[in-house]
Amino acid sequence: MAVHEISHPLVRHKLGLLREKNISTKDFRDLASEVGMLLAYEATRNLPTEKVTIDTWSGPTTVDRIKGKKITIVPILRAGLGMMDGVLKALPNAKVSVVGLYRDEQTLQPVTYFKKLVKDIDQRQALILDPMLATGGTLVATIDMLKQAGCRDIIGIFLVAAPEGIDRLRASHPEVDIYVAAVDERLNADGYILPGLGDAGDKIFGTK
Ligand code: URA
Repeated sequence: MAVHEISHPLVRHKLGLLREKNISTKDFRDLASEVGMLLAYEATRNLPTEKVTIDTWSGPTTVDRIKGKKITIVPILRAGLGMMDGVLKALPNAKVSVVGLYRDEQTLQPVTYFKKLVKDIDQRQALILDPMLATGGTLVATIDMLKQAGCRDIIGIFLVAAPEGIDRLRASHPEVDIYVAAVDERLNADGYILPGLGDAGDKIFGTK
């Protein structure tokens, strides 16, 4: 499993802005989307291309096209929606598979309450979107669900990840690579990432 912590200055700068205590809902939303786009740019760096010959104003020319690889993005409700617009700017033709999970208070296990996957997910690469990789419980359950639907090529994009979540992912799905703006220090007792961003869903939706 590879953890790609993106060191591009634009990503570092925008992540710093996201961490500001008194950031507005609009700024947080805009920046989450922008960093999502930049992480998607990095995550698609190795997509295969092929040569095709096209007609141009000056005659036939050979150009590169993305070859065959079809993508579905998988935003995890609700905070993952905050990265969707940005990622779709980088991948405007991607189909969207939405999933929602909550944690059962008795069993502490993730329970799926919403799932609408693209039909041909077995032929697509899935890009899971969630701003925060915290304990990893939701992520592991999402990957279980995608694999059950036949998906064999899965990567994850997160603004911030905790070492605890990375360890959990590595233990359950070691072949899934992730792209993050930062790996932070640790989780606190309430499951929040430190230094982190706070509650990313509340900050994206303005429900704090
Ligand atoms: N979810 C969040 O929104 N923030 C965290 O720090 C952890 C999980």
